[in-house]
Parts: sequence; structure tokens; C-alpha cells
Amino acid sequence: MIDDLFRRNRAWSIARQERDPDFFPRLARQQRPAYLWIGCADSRVPANEIVGLDPGELFVHRNVANLAPPSDINFLSVLSFAVAVLKVQHVIVCGHYGCGGVRAALLDERNGIVDHWLEPVRGTYRRNAARIEAIGSEADRVNALCEFNVQDRVQDVAATTIIRDAWAAGQKLAIHGWIYGLADGLLRNLDVTVAGLEDS
Ligand code: CO
Repeated sequence: MIDDLFRRNRAWSIARQERDPDFFPRLARQQRPAYLWIGCADSRVPANEIVGLDPGELFVHRNVANLAPPSDINFLSVLSFAVAVLKVQHVIVCGHYGCGGVRAALLDERNGIVDHWLEPVRGTYRRNAARIEAIGSEADRVNALCEFNVQDRVQDVAATTIIRDAWAAGQKLAIHGWIYGLADGLLRNLDVTVAGLEDS
């Protein structure tokens, strides 16, 4: 099984070089992505592939349920590097329908350590419980919470001092909230973009 991955890797590397001989030397010199993607770790939501971007074009951070916790040094390090060094112009928080992490938070399941990680999603549920509980089917309630989760995580990103200081210094930077449909492979814009201190 594992050997197969190396075979696939060699085939991919050769095919890329045949299409564009300078591809790897160019990337080895520098990355200059215009976007930071904050998405779910779910294997069905491959960031670059969904938006048709090549290596070098998308800076990616993924975790369970696409969270942006201000206590997570991993997330903060990625965000800081993306904003201060790479100077990305867009941060995309991308959730997906049918998210297992969101479902676990909604149903208050017990899965171990990840339950602690999912606390921000339970907070989002508590703040929107009336609207979510008015929805008929469980799958639709999960999907509604998936959308509310993206909205709140966009606000979490916008509330970081990393973003607020960048805006205060005049850096152009927009934070977007999108959601991906596993069933059709399509992205939807939730139209919750925050592009400056006056929006947040
Ligand atoms: Co997910």
C-alpha cells in the first residue's frame, strides 16, 4: 500500500515536469500564494483540488471542523506567517456540509479529546439553538450548524490581533466564509466577508 504512494508520487513528478520543466525549480525558489485556506481535515475536502490551484498558489491550514481558536499556536503561527510574510490578500474559511465534527458537537457526542477541540462549535450551537432546532431533519440541522460555524470562525479570524493589526497598518486583506458540498463538489459563498476594522 505504502509503496504505491511512492510510485504515484514519481509518476506525478514526471508528468508535471513534462508539462512545465521549470515548475519545481520555480517553486523551490519561492512561494507566493495570494490565499490562505482554513478548512476541515476531512479527506473529502482537498483544498487545492476544489479550487483548481497548483502547488504554490494556496497556503493551507486544516483541522477538525475548520476552527480558528485564539489559543491554538498552530493556527496562529500559520495565520501570522500568511499575513506578515506571505502577505496573502484573502483568507478563506471553508466548511463543508455533513461535517462529522460539527455533527458530534450538535449531538453532544463523546469521542474523547476532540470533544474539547469542538467546544467553539458547541458555543455556536448554543447561540443559534432556536433557529437550528426549528429545522425538521437532523441532516439539515447539522448543515445549518456547519454554516453558522463558518460565520463564527470568520469572526474569530477577524478578531485576532494578527488581522486587526494588519488592517490598522493599511494592509489589504479580506476574510471570506465558504461552504463546500460533498454531494456535488460545489462551493457556496456564505457572503460573510469581512474586509476591514469597520466590518468586524
Ligand atoms: Co469536517
